[in-house]
Amino acid sequence: MNKKPNYGIDAPRVIRNLLLIGFAILILPLVFPIIKIGSALIITSYFMWSGGYFMLSGLLMLLYSLYGKYFHRNRMLNLIRWSGHEQVLDVGTGKGLLMIGAAKRLTTGKSIGIDIWNAQDLTGNDVEAVRKNVSIEGVEDNTEIKTENVLQMTFADNTFDVVISNLCLHNIYNQEGRKKACEEIARVLKQGGIGIISDFRHVKHYKKYFGHLGLQTKLIYSSYFASFPPLTILKIEKPFKDTIRIDINEP
Ligand SMILES: C[S@@+](CC[C@H](N)C(=O)[O-])C[C@H]1O[C@@H](n2cnc3c(N)ncnc32)[C@H](O)[C@@H]1O
Repeated sequence: MNKKPNYGIDAPRVIRNLLLIGFAILILPLVFPIIKIGSALIITSYFMWSGGYFMLSGLLMLLYSLYGKYFHRNRMLNLIRWSGHEQVLDVGTGKGLLMIGAAKRLTTGKSIGIDIWNAQDLTGNDVEAVRKNVSIEGVEDNTEIKTENVLQMTFADNTFDVVISNLCLHNIYNQEGRKKACEEIARVLKQGGIGIISDFRHVKHYKKYFGHLGLQTKLIYSSYFASFPPLTILKIEKPFKDTIRIDINEP
C-alpha cells in the first residue's frame, strides 16, 4: 500500500492547456518562421515570449500543487491560535489537505470536510481518495467527510469554531452563488469563531459580503513565489452579539 498521502493536482485541465498552448507557440517559429495572412507577413518568433509566459504559468501551477500547497496550508492554519478542542469545517476539502492539517492540531476537537467532488477541480477527486489520505495520516478519530454543497449546508447555525477553505469558492461561477456561500459560512460559524478563506480571485468580494454581515475581516496577500496563481487569504471573525464591527483593513 502507498504510505504517502496524495493531495492531487489542482485545476489539471488548466495546467494542461497552459503547457500545450505554451509549447505550441514556442515551436511555431521552427515549423512556420513566417506566416502570410493576406498581404501581411507575421514573424512568429516575436510571439515566443508569450509562449514562455504560458509555459511558466503552467509549470508554476504544477509546482504549487506538488510542493507549495503544503506551505500554504501551514500558513493558513498558523493564523489560528489552536486550543485543540475546536470544531472545524473545511469547505471544499478535495482530498482533505486542510481538513487533515487541522485535525493534526486537535485533541478533543473534530475536523469535518465537505465537498461535491468536482472532477475537473482536482485530480482523483472523490470520497475514497480522502478516506485513504485520512487513514495514511492517522486522523480517523477526529475527522469526518461529508458530501455537501457549501450553498446548502445542513449544519445548524453557530456550529463551528473554525471554518477554513482553500481554492473552493471561485468554482461557484456566479456572483449570487459566491455571496450565498459566504452567507452560509457566516451562518455556521460560532460567535467568536474564526474563518480563514483563501482563493486566487473574488476575495475582495468575499470580504465585502462578510463585512455586510457584520463580521470583522482582514486581507493577507501572498507573493508569486508563495503560490501560483498568487493566493489571497481572508481572515474573518464573527463577533459576539452587540459587538461593534471593525474593518481591520480600513482606517
Ligand atoms: C481546487 S480544489 C481544492 C481542494 C482543497 N481545498 C485543497 O486546497 O487541496 C476545489 C474543491 O472545491 C470543491 N467544490 C467546488 N464547488 C463546491 C461547492 N459548491 N461546495 C463544496 N465543494 C465545492 C471541488 O469539488 C474541489 O474539491
